[in-house]
Amino acid sequence: MTIPNDTPADEQAVHPRQATCYNSKYLAEYYDLWIGTWNDVQLYSRLLAEMLARRNSSDDPVRVLDVGTGSGRIIHGLATAQQQGKKGGTSQPAVHFLGLDNEQHMLDRAHSLTHPAHVDQITWVLGSAEDLVSLPALQSPGGPGGIIDMIVFACGSICHLHEPAQGHRFFEQMAKVLKPTTGRAYISVLEALTDGGEPLARAMEPSEPILTPSKEFPGIMYRETWPLHKLVGNVWHTHRHIVVSQKSSDGPETIVEDNLDVRKVKVWTEADMRAYATAAGLQVVQILHHHNDSTHKELIFVFGTLA
Ligand SMILES: C[S@@+](CC[C@H](N)C(=O)[O-])C[C@H]1O[C@@H](n2cnc3c(N)ncnc32)[C@H](O)[C@@H]1O
Repeated sequence: MTIPNDTPADEQAVHPRQATCYNSKYLAEYYDLWIGTWNDVQLYSRLLAEMLARRNSSDDPVRVLDVGTGSGRIIHGLATAQQQGKKGGTSQPAVHFLGLDNEQHMLDRAHSLTHPAHVDQITWVLGSAEDLVSLPALQSPGGPGGIIDMIVFACGSICHLHEPAQGHRFFEQMAKVLKPTTGRAYISVLEALTDGGEPLARAMEPSEPILTPSKEFPGIMYRETWPLHKLVGNVWHTHRHIVVSQKSSDGPETIVEDNLDVRKVKVWTEADMRAYATAAGLQVVQILHHHNDSTHKELIFVFGTLA
């Protein structure tokens, strides 16, 4: 294998670049290849359709905030489903989607995957789940806050908020932007990262390298290994080594990116969810159990404001 660019081969092998597993165009595609055929979009589409059915077509637009939107998978699916609902003849209020992520490469991919028919109803925003109120896209004429009808934090992504202060900031911000009484927030937690999930999380460690061919970039192959995977308190510390290589038909295989994602993800128990919500003035109104497939199960906590 030969190593291109200005980094000496042995040094690059010893010092892969620090990655977040989302911070390059290749890692953004790799995420999409991993998430594959999850069917949670159907669940969120049904929940949005039910919300729309309770509204008059003359009402203000329904605003949906997708936190940690990634490549926009959820918003793209919701926009498509909502368009089909409109074709079905039901008269509905307009819907505006806001896709928030703190990783520009994911947003670039979300943008590039947006169907031209949906461009006007989606705003992609670079920002943090911990600072929603100051986002210009969340300002209303009456001041910030209280304008979001539906918040989605899908695919267990809240696990990235692994420090208590991060979790508290997110819940406080969520309470401020959620529409009082009728607004709903859907926060997913993977079964492996909640109560009793430790054996499942331990079993996620690959026993041999995972090889995944790119669908988008010719000749690109992803190779993932986990040099470290351990639970410290309620936080999983995982080192994901993801090497992106390219094989041309007549040349040698070259390493295009050597990524080390030093990942910390928190186990969010039901007690955590309830405690953080109460502290922020929110309540759990329902817990949904969803199976994407036999191995990827999640709990979706539904929050509303306190009555
Ligand atoms: C597991 S992916 C989920 C992507 C998408 N929601 C889906 O379901 O396919 C997690 C996403 O959350 C983003 N993320 C992590 N921490 C974040 C934070 N503090 N604020 C905003 N986005 C964050 C990551 O960049 C990544 O795109």
